[in-house]
Amino acid sequence: MRDGLTRRRVLAVGGALGAMAAGGLGLAAGLARHPAATGAELRSAVPLPPPYRVPLPLPEVLRPVATTGGTDRYELVQREATAEILPGVRTRLWTYGGTFPGPTIESRRGRPVTVTHRNELPVPTVVHLHGGRTPAESDGYPTDLVLPRGWGATGGHGDGHPDGGTGHHGGGMRDPRAVTSELTRAYTFPLDQRPTLLWYHDHRMDFTAPAIWRGLAGLHVVRDDAEDALGLPAGPRELPLMITDRAFAADGSLDYPSLDPALRTRPGVREPYLAGVLGDVILVNGAPWPVHEVDAARYRLRVLNASNARHYELAFVDEGDGRIREFQQVGSDQGLLAGPVTHSTLPLAPAERHDLVFDFSRVPVGTVVRLVNRLGSGRTRDVMAFRVTRRARDDSRVPRVLSTDLPDWRRADAVRVRDFSFRAGRMGADGGHGWLIGGRAFDPARTDVTVRLGDVELWRLVADVHHPVHLHLTGFRVLTRGGRDPLPHDAGLKDTVSLRPGESVELLTRWDGYRGRYLFHCHNAEHEDMGMMANLEVV
Ligand code: C2O
Ligand code: CU
Ligand code: CU
Repeated sequence: MRDGLTRRRVLAVGGALGAMAAGGLGLAAGLARHPAATGAELRSAVPLPPPYRVPLPLPEVLRPVATTGGTDRYELVQREATAEILPGVRTRLWTYGGTFPGPTIESRRGRPVTVTHRNELPVPTVVHLHGGRTPAESDGYPTDLVLPRGWGATGGHGDGHPDGGTGHHGGGMRDPRAVTSELTRAYTFPLDQRPTLLWYHDHRMDFTAPAIWRGLAGLHVVRDDAEDALGLPAGPRELPLMITDRAFAADGSLDYPSLDPALRTRPGVREPYLAGVLGDVILVNGAPWPVHEVDAARYRLRVLNASNARHYELAFVDEGDGRIREFQQVGSDQGLLAGPVTHSTLPLAPAERHDLVFDFSRVPVGTVVRLVNRLGSGRTRDVMAFRVTRRARDDSRVPRVLSTDLPDWRRADAVRVRDFSFRAGRMGADGGHGWLIGGRAFDPARTDVTVRLGDVELWRLVADVHHPVHLHLTGFRVLTRGGRDPLPHDAGLKDTVSLRPGESVELLTRWDGYRGRYLFHCHNAEHEDMGMMANLEVV
């Protein structure tokens, strides 16, 4: 029985969407009054393993194939692979280089990197480096497709037309500016930006959510000398943690409610998943509820929520006494904070990153410390565990000043104020359910916003349900949230901000870097695929 009662519906999406479309924001806000999540949970059809048995995997660091003229050159093959994610269960994945997560790329600030991707998957793909300050031609615009071999011949889609005319946009949507390529594409990233944890993922128009779900995501770390000199925990005491939720079908494959399981022509998901697809298995670096043995010392935990729609509220629980233990936050999406902030819990929306330091010397050796999600229920409350196995020397520190280069834009610096609503609505000729920015669904052929290079702007965003809003190219400061001061987790330079139901935020940003066509969108991946994306032209 995989319907009805076994499928917990966190938000009654089918009904809520219809009601929102018909009744507007008031009703939607009423329906959605601070639910823990936006989306519906798929229930796995295979037995799930007990928690904290599988060791935490650490993604391989990719080696450059060459270094020419100060540029590191990498190659990645996008291909299908089989992995044993749940013990004893074989799962087909779409991967970067054969693994999920894909290999990690380690870079230095200002040292350019070229990654040549080769698409051996059965569908077109697009690579985007999330949080990267990247020229438009390498930013992974959703119609800049890398076509698999023979795609043009079999489907006649080799013309920059993303969905073959049969998609929910009502057909006929063309993008004259699309730059497609056959089989391979070289993406160049100058990485002239603050050091931080970036991630790369698929960004194909209308099909981003299922492609990421199948495994197309990896990490890309940028470092510099100033950060290295701080003395933060490093080496084996710096752990990347890519958190995702997934569900498994009876045959071991990843379950996902696509309308077109081949992901070729018809985008979208079936009801009741229109507000977001949640899984009942929590993976960290691709392993279910893993465990990691640690020294009694400080660890730097670089956390990314790569889930499509699930939100987390992270907390560290000491198994010994059941108490929640405090930790320090040293960085956010776009690098180091000005100074460390102490938290006992920390929200993490899709695509957000937190750079954390947890001091395991403050619990007795032998203790298990669990990382939990206070927004989860049942098995989804657990994320992973750390087992403190030995006393050890610790030369690391968390300096009181972490960075001095955060932009200090003020309200008065903004030369323009823009307002955007993020709401459910109807889209396309058929009037189907969708998610809209400013009342409109994404259209690659329409420029929604034109900004001038170098301008500081104030953006005011308002949401009906949860919408983690992401801007390409630029980092921003959160100026206000709900008309008040930002929350502690809004500190630093962000590229994704989590709007909660009915909430508004004000952002300040400066459009720096490159001219060209960029995007902003909701990073609930299902919302993104169902219209909640807009074009931004930097001139
Ligand atoms: Cu992480 Cu436009 O995306
Ligand atoms: Cu991005
Ligand atoms: Cu959204």
